[in-house]
Amino acid sequence: MQSINNTQTSRPHTHGRLIINARVASLDPTHTQPYGMLDNHAVLIGDDKIMWVGPSSEVNPKQFEGNLIDAAGRLLTPGLIDSHTHLIYGGNRAQEFEARQQGQSYEQIARAGGGILSTVRATRELYQSGLIEQALPRLTALCREGVTTVEIKSGYGLTLDDELKMLRAARQLEQLLPVRIRTTLLAAHAVPPEYRDNADGYIDMICQQLMPKVVEEGLADAVDVFCESIAFSPAQCRRVFEAAKQHGLGIKGHTEQLSNLGGSALAAEFGAWSVDHLEYLDDDGIKAMRSAGTVACLLPGAFYFLKETQMPPIEALRQAGVPMALASDCNPGSSPLASLRLMMNQGCVLFGLTPEEALTGVTRHAAKALGLSRQVGMIRPGQQADLLLWDLDHPAQLAYEFGPDRLALRIFNGQPASI
Ligand code: NIG
Ligand code: FE
Repeated sequence: MQSINNTQTSRPHTHGRLIINARVASLDPTHTQPYGMLDNHAVLIGDDKIMWVGPSSEVNPKQFEGNLIDAAGRLLTPGLIDSHTHLIYGGNRAQEFEARQQGQSYEQIARAGGGILSTVRATRELYQSGLIEQALPRLTALCREGVTTVEIKSGYGLTLDDELKMLRAARQLEQLLPVRIRTTLLAAHAVPPEYRDNADGYIDMICQQLMPKVVEEGLADAVDVFCESIAFSPAQCRRVFEAAKQHGLGIKGHTEQLSNLGGSALAAEFGAWSVDHLEYLDDDGIKAMRSAGTVACLLPGAFYFLKETQMPPIEALRQAGVPMALASDCNPGSSPLASLRLMMNQGCVLFGLTPEEALTGVTRHAAKALGLSRQVGMIRPGQQADLLLWDLDHPAQLAYEFGPDRLALRIFNGQPASI
């Protein structure tokens, strides 16, 4: 018990919930084993935080009767983090999928007024409550497989009121399920019909009207852009980033998805938390990301669903030591896939990640992509107690297998919270 008394907290050591006999994949890089693995370890939870992690032999389980969880050798990981989603939207794009199967491309559909803009029409038609109702099954699916933190973007409203509606809906989801929601303003997702020939005027509206309102209401943690020829130019994205910086918001980007416009280097120049997609990323982009500490967020679901053939430069990112996150990009057009476990599998099979990189990409590096490194993503004293106990004994199984429910216990903010 000595070690427990030596923790960073003054709480009595008998207070809290204790997990013993776990194979702890801590994902904490200060532990040198792969996955930060700590065999036969115990984790002490006090209120909503992890208070202590140490060998099971150093604790006296009798003192925690009623609040004791015997993992019996099973795997314990941090809660999973989906660091890039568009979970809030109206309708679906199954008919666009049919058109694509008959030979039209994603870009052709977008240029003809479908794509993102068709979801914009469906999203504008719904009240906040309707958006929540449609998003709940998607969020539930993520939570059931172990996700405890989810980022949700706006970007299908594209008017002041509809963007605010999306962000409010996203924030409200946190009241309905035991999950942490982070929100991102992605008003620069597509040029709305009202500004068809005046994208710069729309950027003015975002920077001068929408962003101040979002900040005033505290509705977003970060700002994102779609830097692409079918969306916004680097010069337009720069203006959004400048405004975001002034408001102290985090910066993210959809960059180098369909072509290379240098959006990743631009975002890195502003200290972006992450840039995402990256199939067409080049060495200059990688260098800029490396010096800025920007996370590369890989989205294998979109790569798969759009039948992309250009691979993101995984080996170059790895060699440069750029942290790689993995996310679902759950959205109706390019990734209608509400499963982070599937992304782990696809990240390995399609992108050549190792299972350890895949798990790190949905925990520690995903936390960094959301500016949450201090709060979540590892099993370490001081972090929020978001913990998953699996009916598995090796963490590689999380990326290897897809389908069966192996989650034995989901703990969110220190409380058992199965869904
Ligand atoms: O992340 N790339 C831009 N935005 C989304 C797709 C949005 C849509 O097609 O509705 C993405 O892939
Ligand atoms: Fe996206």
